This record gives sequence, C-alpha cells and structure tokens, in this order.
Amino acid sequence: MTRDNVVVWWLRTDDAGVNLSRLETMLDSDEQARAARFHFQRDRLSYIAAHALGRILLSAHAGGDPTGWRFVTGDHGKPEVLSPHSEQRLRLNLSHTVGLAAAALTFDHDIGIDVEWLGREPITEPAQHFFAPAECAHLAAVAPGLTHEIFLTYWTLKEAYVKAIGKGMAQPLDSFAFKLDPPSIQFDSERAGNPAHWLFRRFQPTHDHVMALALRHPNPRAVTVSTIDASQEFLRQQT
Ligand SMILES: CC(C)(COP(=O)(O)OP(=O)(O)OC[C@H]1O[C@@H](n2cnc3c(N)ncnc32)[C@H](O)[C@@H]1OP(=O)(O)O)[C@@H](O)C(=O)NCCC(=O)NCCS
Repeated sequence: MTRDNVVVWWLRTDDAGVNLSRLETMLDSDEQARAARFHFQRDRLSYIAAHALGRILLSAHAGGDPTGWRFVTGDHGKPEVLSPHSEQRLRLNLSHTVGLAAAALTFDHDIGIDVEWLGREPITEPAQHFFAPAECAHLAAVAPGLTHEIFLTYWTLKEAYVKAIGKGMAQPLDSFAFKLDPPSIQFDSERAGNPAHWLFRRFQPTHDHVMALALRHPNPRAVTVSTIDASQEFLRQQT
C-alpha cells in the first residue's frame, strides 16, 4: 500500500461461522470491557468484529501481531493508530452495524467510513433536522419505496465525512451537502476547504447494507481504492 491507496475490508457478522471468542482475544482490555457492556449480542458481535478486523487489516499491511496495536483518541473521540514502526502515519477508521463490520486503511490522509443496515427502523425525525436543503429536496422527490435507501445513502456519506474530519456529530450536518451520482460535496463556507480535495465512494457490500468512504486527498484522481469482502478469507484464517 502507498500513500495513494485505500484498502476497505468488510466482514459479515451474521455468518454462523464467526468465532466471537477467537476474535475477542485480539482486542485489548478496554475494548473487551466495552464489548461486555453491549446489551444485544448482535451489537457486541459487530463491535468485536470491527475492532478485530481493523487490527488484522493493520497487521496485513504493516506487519506485527494484531493484538499489538495501540490507539489514541482525538478531541472529538476519533481513534488514531499509534504507528511506531512506520515512517508514514497509518490512518484507520472503523464502522459497525447490525450484520456488518467495516474497516478502511490508508497512509497519512484523513479517512472515514460508515456502514448502515437497511433493515433499521426508518428515522422518523424530519430530514431537515439532518440534511441540507438540496438533499431534502432530492429526498422529497424520490419514489416513496426508495426514500429509506436514499436517506441512508446520504447518511453514510455524511457520517463518513464527519468521521474523516474527526469531528463526528460536533460538525453541523447541514453545513455541507452531497450530490450522489457520482458522490461529491459542497460546503456552505470556504473555510471548510476545497471540495475538489475530497474523494467519496458509495458501496453496497450486501443486499442489506449501504456503505460510504470519505478521503481527504490533494489529488483524488490519483487514488486507488481496493475493496475486499473479508468474510470467507477471514473466517478461514481465524477459526
Ligand atoms: C462518530 C460518529 C459520527 C459515528 O457513529 P456511528 O455511525 O453511530 O458508528 P460507526 O460504527 O459508524 O463508527 C463508530 C466508530 O467510529 C470511530 N469514531 C468514534 N468517534 C469518531 C470521530 N469523532 N471521528 C471519526 N471516527 C470516530 C470509532 O472507531 C468508533 O468505533 P467504536 O464506537 O466501536 O469505538 C458518532 O459520533 C455519532 O455520534 N453518531 C451519531 C449518529 C447520528 O446521529 N448520525 C446522523 C448522520 S446524518
């Protein structure tokens, strides 16, 4: 992997073959303590899978044992890899939802990933509470049967972006707007930066999930993105 590559792995967690206890041993004691606090087993499984997947992805590209990685947390809660053995800074972001865990890795550049389960309850709050006017207008115009999926497509792009800049929900979600085909961003202030320095990708990793990737890069056209459904490979190696 070079500075211009992004690697995205995802893992289905509804597969009966996922060996939860094996994956859990890869987590550090803080992660294991957090895993123990989930009320629902399906959420615990996705959390453990995402954190194990991130560790295995790091080791696959930078060597070392998956259990050895350490992380620090930024101002708004964004975890960053401590990469003592690498001259380049490893940048990892994780996302997990019912049935799916995902991890995105690159060098140096700000990166964010988000996955959502299409089976989740539709959001009952008006879209205006989350989205910019142009996004709301698009949502109002789509066929009713598509509203939920388009809503979650915007949602994943927005979350991937706020995760890439590290601010999470501290960033007002209507301060930027997406177009979907192909995905691109517009800011309501020049201070937010240059929209041309962002790469966004949309994915449908399963029939039941949507996923989005955000990367800040001075030359997005130079970037290659590799995606791997790690489910089979991962299970073979870890069980
Ligand atoms: C970071 C945030 C935006 C993502 O939350 P989420 O979509 O619920 O969860 P995801 O599974 O996609 O991502 C969680 C992971 O992102 C990482 N993360 C946490 N804070 C982060 C931040 N500020 N920036 C980037 N990544 C962050 C962590 O690895 C976290 O994993 P963990 O909780 O297992 O430790 C969260 O701050 C949040 O508040 N979400 C609220 C959801 C919401 O209302 N979204 C509306 C969007 S339109």
